Amino acid sequence: MTDRLILRRPDDWHVHLRDGDMLRAVASYTARQFARAIVMPNLAPPVTTAEAARAYRNRIIAAVDPALDFTPLMTCYLSDDIDPAEVERGFSGGVFTAAKLYPANATTNSAHGVTDIRNIDQVLSTMQRIGMPLLVHGEVTDPEIDIFDREAVFIERIMLPLVHRFPDLKIVFEHITTSDAAQFVADSGPNIAATITPHHLEFSRNAIFQGGIRPHYYCLPIAKRETHRLALRTAATSGSPKFFLGTDSAPHMQGAKENACGCAGLFNAPVALESYARTFEEEGALDQLEGFASVHGPTFYGLPVNEARIVLQRGEMDVPAAIDPDGACVVPFHAGETLHWRYAGLCA
Ligand code: DOR
Ligand code: ZN
Repeated sequence: MTDRLILRRPDDWHVHLRDGDMLRAVASYTARQFARAIVMPNLAPPVTTAEAARAYRNRIIAAVDPALDFTPLMTCYLSDDIDPAEVERGFSGGVFTAAKLYPANATTNSAHGVTDIRNIDQVLSTMQRIGMPLLVHGEVTDPEIDIFDREAVFIERIMLPLVHRFPDLKIVFEHITTSDAAQFVADSGPNIAATITPHHLEFSRNAIFQGGIRPHYYCLPIAKRETHRLALRTAATSGSPKFFLGTDSAPHMQGAKENACGCAGLFNAPVALESYARTFEEEGALDQLEGFASVHGPTFYGLPVNEARIVLQRGEMDVPAAIDPDGACVVPFHAGETLHWRYAGLCA
């Protein structure tokens, strides 16, 4: 039995680092495990200009110990009236790595998102020309559509026509939750990839209702039925370069989660690699973890892989019930549980 894994240092291709006190409380959890992270732009107000992204990047860097050697990769929040020239300037100037499509009102801070994909044709055409990746929150917002069907319907209504109209656009279907999305990505060309979160690999929708309503398992896209979780596990561990690590760590204050109208999102940054390692081991695929965590993402984005190596050690890791630096009380994924892989830092 393997007790120690040495992997190329991984990156997180989808994370919410927030701002202000919350940023200062959570950023180091990501920076300690990952060399780089694609930082979501759904702040209030959203990050829609290169100048705002540059300033946000500086705040992230200031929140993290420089010894962790962490690089935030910034994204542009697409809105109906986004200026394609600004997006292009931000990308060619090295500020924006990608742009994020939130359908308006699909999730946290998405009120300024896109109301009709046709409204952003110009920017999509610019992005296709310059090779800038489009990161997609793939859920329809039509209230007639059942919440558990929103991703599958998004593929039919939005994704397929989008790929048809912009065949060379690089697209990351973010945090996929269904066998439909995994199949769609597997069947598409090499310019279409997907991120998969640790939590969608670990639990199905049953966890949200296990013996009562459990707000810490609520995120968007919502976890689906077990058959979908199994399809995600097959995709993540398949070795296909189309699937890579994106935690979607999305911290909210404990009171905002344990609430009559609780916020969507799990704070998994403190246990991210431990959680993925558990899934890959259960699937008998620890040998595929490095590709998923450290190689497929940079290859898709056209960035170099990291040269440093990290150690994952078999051994008990007790997850605290809550994390409370500077009063930002946040309940992490696996709170109060013991995990059996432990991130043990950079390889000496
Ligand atoms: O669960 C989620 N939380 N899904 C998202 O798409 C956004 C995120 C957040 O920002 O809280
Ligand atoms: Zn997200």
